[in-house]
Amino acid sequence: MTQEDLEGIARKLVKKPKGILAMDESSGTIKQRFESVGLENTAENRRAYREMLITTPSLGEYISGVILFTETLNQKTSDGKPFVEILKEEGIIVGVKVDLGTRPYPNFPDELVTDGIDGLAKRIAEYTQQGAKFAKCRAVFSIYGNERPTKAVINANAQRFGEYAPICQNEGLVPIVEPEVLMDGSHSLEDCMRVTYDVLSMVFNKLLENRINFKAMILKTNIVVPGNESKVSYSPDEVAEKTVRVLKSTVPEDIPGIAFLSGDLSDEDATTYLNVMNQRYAIELPWNLTFSFNRGLTREPRKIWAQGGPDNFKNAQRMLLQRAKETSLATEGKYQA
Ligand code: 13P
Repeated sequence: MTQEDLEGIARKLVKKPKGILAMDESSGTIKQRFESVGLENTAENRRAYREMLITTPSLGEYISGVILFTETLNQKTSDGKPFVEILKEEGIIVGVKVDLGTRPYPNFPDELVTDGIDGLAKRIAEYTQQGAKFAKCRAVFSIYGNERPTKAVINANAQRFGEYAPICQNEGLVPIVEPEVLMDGSHSLEDCMRVTYDVLSMVFNKLLENRINFKAMILKTNIVVPGNESKVSYSPDEVAEKTVRVLKSTVPEDIPGIAFLSGDLSDEDATTYLNVMNQRYAIELPWNLTFSFNRGLTREPRKIWAQGGPDNFKNAQRMLLQRAKETSLATEGKYQA
């Protein structure tokens, strides 16, 4: 895979009106999501759930790529067709989550650093053989007053991105770099703005230092919003303005696109914020603004599917397609609630 090939894949992933479906929950995360809809976290339930998502007819109209958890990469439908083949036929690019989760940082027990850099090149060789063309690595940052995240932990996670991204590009995968400022807590919009700025500045410093090819990567990050326990509400215009302001002052122009995660936002809010950003700012921005949602696309379909039976299977797929369509419209500023 040449650098030009990687650049082409990165551009295709963020090309409007499409975006990315993140369906790469680790077994721990999916356990919570299944429990909330009354399902047991068995390997077969995970496979069957992902079969429902992947076999959604016409998904490729709105979805450019899917991020899979490693166990899903070589799985098949109940009648024996590899998932990767179905995605290829829909024109959907296959990606894989390559980080191995997070753990507390020594001396900073309340903060997390991302694991999974050791042995990464070797694992990537397996994933590319299985059909993966892009990768995702996520780091999380919680806000607690002015105390957290600390500079040390921002630095440690940024350093990991600085190692991960070049390994991906050398081994033939487009890296998605995903620093996420979490919504947990009562912090203000301004706090989120300040921390997102600090995190993105440090991440791009490290990427630059490590000679990353910016044209062959994607930034996946949070929309700038207040904490989920904050009592103050802001208009979509304010959220869009603050988010774009941070991005303009931290993200290099060569990046082809920024794909937002939906975090703890409601489906409606996540879609509306993306829509307003594109309506108001797309014309002046060097990158495409699109989506790489998990919860924002799969929350409702999962609830329907969990009720069981063939009708709910089809209705869940219809719901996924509807959410994908709405979010796709938001990449062009054409979504109407
Ligand atoms: P959410 O859209 O649910 O935030 O998930 C995105 C994601 O991939 C987290 O890593």
